[in-house]
Amino acid sequence: MSTHIEPGYAHLKPASLQDEAKLASGIKAVEHYLRPGMKVGLGSGTTSHWFVRALAPRVARGLDIVGVPTSNATRELALELGVPLTDLGQIDQLDVTIDGADEIDHQGSMIKGGGACLLWEKIVAAASKKMVAVVDDKKIVERLGRFPLPIEVIPFGWQSTERLLRELFVSAGFDKNVRIVTRMKGTEPLLTDSGNWILDCHLEAIPDPLGLAPRFNAIPGVVENGLFTGIASEMIVGHADGSADIVVVGAPRS
Ligand code: 5RP
Repeated sequence: MSTHIEPGYAHLKPASLQDEAKLASGIKAVEHYLRPGMKVGLGSGTTSHWFVRALAPRVARGLDIVGVPTSNATRELALELGVPLTDLGQIDQLDVTIDGADEIDHQGSMIKGGGACLLWEKIVAAASKKMVAVVDDKKIVERLGRFPLPIEVIPFGWQSTERLLRELFVSAGFDKNVRIVTRMKGTEPLLTDSGNWILDCHLEAIPDPLGLAPRFNAIPGVVENGLFTGIASEMIVGHADGSADIVVVGAPRS
């Protein structure tokens, strides 16, 4: 256990060095970004869940915030830990969203959706004044794409959507045999929280994420894509020794 983790969080027990790094990032997010009265987007995935676990004792000690979860899993965790929740219908804008990433580059472009929550995550991030990525140092890449890019699609006619996706990849300079895999849960396609499917696209390297990101959602059947560009303004990079650094990666939104 690291010496950097502050006493108020000593009950949180990361089981691995990578979890230690994720927790460090989550604690930094709580300490640096959250203030009384804030409306906060609560991300999904293991790093975001460490953030929610770090947030809970602060709430129990009187920090007055309200959260909007980006998945049913995060909603359940927040409710279990006593973090008060609302939804986007009850508020106008969130102050900040804290969420993880599967990959993030030095400009703050991200691949998200490893936990199949990309749609709600993008909606919540777009409803926020600021989005801060919480990551461990293994998530930072020189170029996005090693992690398969998740695309959320409507199950109806998905074969046609997949064909159009492949055409898009070819026109963007990718190999025509790019591997596109329907994400499964057991023997059935995994259903997202909105009842859609995920197609994982094995692109290996995405040279121009900013150019590619806006093209997906023009395909009928594509609900959302896992490229998040121009969304994060900062990332908090957690390390296995329990320290965490804030790195500015993009311009704050107006
Ligand atoms: C879920 C996400 C997560 O933020 C992403 O997968 C990172 O997860 P983890 O912190 O578990 O590595 O986008 O859809």
